[in-house]
Amino acid sequence: MKITELVLATANEHKAREIKQVLMGINILPRPSELGEIDEIGDSLEENALLKADAVKDYTKKAALADDTGLEIDALGGKPGVHSARFAHCLASDAENVAHVLKLMENQSNRQAKFVTVIALSIPDGDHIIAKGEVRGEIAFEETGSNGFGYDSIFIPIEGDGRTFGEMSSDEKNSISHRGRALRAFFDQLKDFD
Ligand code: IMP
Repeated sequence: MKITELVLATANEHKAREIKQVLMGINILPRPSELGEIDEIGDSLEENALLKADAVKDYTKKAALADDTGLEIDALGGKPGVHSARFAHCLASDAENVAHVLKLMENQSNRQAKFVTVIALSIPDGDHIIAKGEVRGEIAFEETGSNGFGYDSIFIPIEGDGRTFGEMSSDEKNSISHRGRALRAFFDQLKDFD
């Protein structure tokens, strides 16, 4: 069965924009607003992406796409990783998470880090498609730029020109980002899917 339509498991408008920019020609439906929070209780990005995609697929009876992303900082032994959304505390805002990272990294000379995204599509017949994308970069010493979301304002991708993701347009970010890469790998698999 060719997949021409899917429901997003995310209500994050930044993520939704990045997803739509890559998945051209696919009819992308928003996350049902009445659907409650899905607890991300998995031990890995893949488990959490599958958990979210399956929950939305079960609710809508349509193919559902979820992503789960982690920031892995070398000097912190790969933290926050799968716990990136709740790094400062369990109900942390983006600003609190960013402040927490900057504080922990205050006296660190090794600023290397990477973003990892896992995309999962859950299909009503029980099948799944999984794709992964990564980008390496450095944690800035202070926030720069107000585009994007999450940790974008403190992440300087290695393949960029020294700007943080927070200083880039959504198109620029997508061309080198973890999510852009995962989505392109996912889209390639989707085109071959019958
Ligand atoms: P989740 O994938 O929505 O669970 O995101 C985990 C954490 O990473 C949250 O704090 C997000 O704000 C952050 N995050 C996810 N994707 C990105 C991104 O593309 N840039 C910066 N931060 C992100």
